[in-house]
Amino acid sequence: MGLNAGIISTGHSYPSGVLTNADLEKIVDTSDEWITSRTGIKQRRKAGSDEYTSQFAVKAARQALERAQIDASEVNLIVCATTSPDQILPSTGCLIQAELGANNAAAYDLFAACSGFLYGLTTVESMIRTGQIKYALVIGAEVLTKYVDYTDRSTCVIFGDGAGAALLAPVAADKGILATKIVSDGRFAEQLYSPGGGTRMGTTHETIDSGQHFFKMKGNELFKIAVRSMTSISQEILEKANYTTDDIKLFIPHQANQRITDAVAQKLGVNESVVYSNIEFHGNTSSASIPIALDECIQQGKIVEGDLILMASFGGGATWGATLVRF
Ligand code: COA
Repeated sequence: MGLNAGIISTGHSYPSGVLTNADLEKIVDTSDEWITSRTGIKQRRKAGSDEYTSQFAVKAARQALERAQIDASEVNLIVCATTSPDQILPSTGCLIQAELGANNAAAYDLFAACSGFLYGLTTVESMIRTGQIKYALVIGAEVLTKYVDYTDRSTCVIFGDGAGAALLAPVAADKGILATKIVSDGRFAEQLYSPGGGTRMGTTHETIDSGQHFFKMKGNELFKIAVRSMTSISQEILEKANYTTDDIKLFIPHQANQRITDAVAQKLGVNESVVYSNIEFHGNTSSASIPIALDECIQQGKIVEGDLILMASFGGGATWGATLVRF
């Protein structure tokens, strides 16, 4: 019998700085009532001006390694899913590698917005299953608040900072990642994008003055696509693996909006009691949202050996994915 890729350990980290809805009321024309009822968010973590993405990624990764008692030198691959890298060059993955002392690893960044963590699991899974690598760190890490325009109330109330890491390794074939799928549709590119700062619109004083480097989002349109795509891809991989929602111990969706989570859970027929939500405390941490939630669940004892977990994501691109894991 062959091997599967399993998540053998996790960790997470976030800034100590907290930005509450009351804080935002003082910055933009919004209210705690609006944010809570439309998104479920009460607070989000916000990095200080001297904090950056790889710092949180390294803390999360160290935690995962320590919990598995695996030395950084044993790691073969580091995939850092991020939309808010420390800098364009080198990759945040390489910066994490150096900081961890993971000198035998290849490292790179993966750009799939809020779906980045599941994209990472999906790409790493086959490398472990086919024996190319043994230990891989898949990290979702973001300091999105530095890409957010705090005069734009439709985006600034949503995003938060943090990082989550998963250590993957070969496990028995009836465990680990049982099914996983990722999908993109670039026709939705301009529903969530940051136009400035790349080769298409290079950075100039004008692009900075007009805020072209900030995230711009058509949230209302994305909402419907998110519900539709997360539901259908979840159904697809459950079917592929011959399971139903009744078999799931926990459903961990990307924490984009509590109303999206509720709608997806309702369409999937997943009982509210098995849906994990932490959006109230973290907001939307993009690629970090699922690994932070996953680690919280494991640390709180919500996931034990043998449990079947479904994760589903949706993000800018548009990108979406779903992964079914037996712990
Ligand atoms: N405070 C108060 N009012 C706000 C507001 C805020 N922070 N943000 C928007 N509004 C206003 C709008 O201006 C609009 O006012 P109008 O009716 O006078 O024009 C009204 O609220 C409704 O705006 P709308 O954009 O339709 O709200 P919504 O219910 O769709 O909620 C989001 C907005 C962004 C919370 C929601 O659309 C969402 O979560 N979308 C999905 C995001 C997503 O999945 N992104 C990809 C993955 S990260």
